Amino acid sequence: MASGQGSNFEALVEACRRDDLQADVVLLAVNNADCGAVERAERLGITTELHDHRSHPNRDSLDQALVTSFRRAAIDLVVMAGWMRIVTPRLITAFPERLVNIHPSLLPSFKGLDGVGQALAAGVTLAGCTAHLVNEAVDGGRILVQAAVPVLPGDDHATLSRRIQVEEHRILPLAVALVAAAQG
Ligand code: GAR
Repeated sequence: MASGQGSNFEALVEACRRDDLQADVVLLAVNNADCGAVERAERLGITTELHDHRSHPNRDSLDQALVTSFRRAAIDLVVMAGWMRIVTPRLITAFPERLVNIHPSLLPSFKGLDGVGQALAAGVTLAGCTAHLVNEAVDGGRILVQAAVPVLPGDDHATLSRRIQVEEHRILPLAVALVAAAQG
């Protein structure tokens, strides 16, 4: 599931293709037709489905459409790879312990929107990212893998985001592997 540039989505596909992760990425779900993730999926040969939140009356309806689509595709594990919508119990309970999110902060610090901006505003000298299971508390599910990066003098949002994303691309496949191993 992606809403943005899709770099984490691509990192997952690449990890599978290198056999670092024994999995197949079978479907990309996006909520914006023109997000960068769609172009990456085309290049990588992965099927994309558009689930535009604007064509649903509420979050539950959107999540029901996602669940229906994931069940149809016989999907075992779902990754929110830059999904910028709050998800509901409809999706969470359909994939118990099998719904993973990546967030650009060292949780439990800086939950919610713009974790990178929050870290810069707080003046921390260590930032990072967290791959975690999703529960009903936003950015509050069980932590799977974290990575820390320094905040360097002169960093702005773009430079710190880039440093964090390098680590996201490394830890997200590790987190998926952990979840898959726990499922047997
Ligand atoms: C990632 O940095 C991810 O941590 C963040 O969106 C970015 C998506 O980048 N997710 C959140 O902030 C979720 N709360 P990408 O589209 O290039 O993978």
